[in-house]
Amino acid sequence: MNRKEYLEMMRGAGKLDYEIYLNTERLLACQKEPEDLCNPDELQFMIVHQVEELWMKLMGTTLLDIDDEMRAGRTLKALTLFRRVHICQEMMSTQLALLETMSPKDYQEIRLLLGNGSGQESPGFRVLLKMPKDLWQTYVDIYLEGGKRTLEQVYDSEYSHDEAYMMAEALAEFDEQFQKFRNAHMQLIYRSIGVAANSLKGRPVKILDAGIRQKFFPELWSVRAEMTDRWGSSYGIKRDKLEPKTDA
Ligand code: HEM
Repeated sequence: MNRKEYLEMMRGAGKLDYEIYLNTERLLACQKEPEDLCNPDELQFMIVHQVEELWMKLMGTTLLDIDDEMRAGRTLKALTLFRRVHICQEMMSTQLALLETMSPKDYQEIRLLLGNGSGQESPGFRVLLKMPKDLWQTYVDIYLEGGKRTLEQVYDSEYSHDEAYMMAEALAEFDEQFQKFRNAHMQLIYRSIGVAANSLKGRPVKILDAGIRQKFFPELWSVRAEMTDRWGSSYGIKRDKLEPKTDA
């Protein structure tokens, strides 16, 4: 078979049950036709972004379910769903490596076609930036105020590795995975357009630094810092040196 025939075969006829159920005809038509691509890497560029949008759609809907499950007090279900979100987050970060197989020059050619587009316009990403506030409110309502406990008690003075602790750690994991994505994305930017570049909106890439420092659940990070200060204060700032072990 020649190239043209293979490409036709990849498209499928859209008539088999698998194709009908998954709507492969429309799905596989969401990318430019081969003759319209500015270079072969443009197909990869589109697919990676589209797949990332799909993962963000799955994460967004799953977070809505997590909120419902927390409100209903079904912690184990909420934790299983959070595992799903965390896996999506990991995949979102690792998939960026695909774009590091694209040469800087190939990307420059693609970039000319992007108008003023920016990842900040991604519908999935915008939703994910908004949802943590609601999730935190639910956590506070159900696990802290509902359980008449403070975060300090959950983590330290009444620590028992219970549901309130596990839910808090799932939220912290979400925060951490988000940072990992933002860091991996920044590395990708450095790799493809360089450190000192401007975005297509004419803004310096450095504006993304604020996002890299953003914490959705600052309370979950400060509770650890406060514990470190409290536990550390009993032996002072500077500790005695450890004695070397002596052989018996
Ligand atoms: C060669 C590949 C890429 C380059 C050079 C690149 C570059 C950039 C730049 C320069 C910005 C800042 C834009 C502004 O001024 O608003 C940005 C933002 C963003 N990009 Fe990318 N990007 C790439 C791939 C991706 C991919 C695959 C995704 C997948 C989801 C993505 C998602 C985002 C998001 C969500 C933002 C907003 C980030 C934030 O607010 O923290 N980018 N990107």
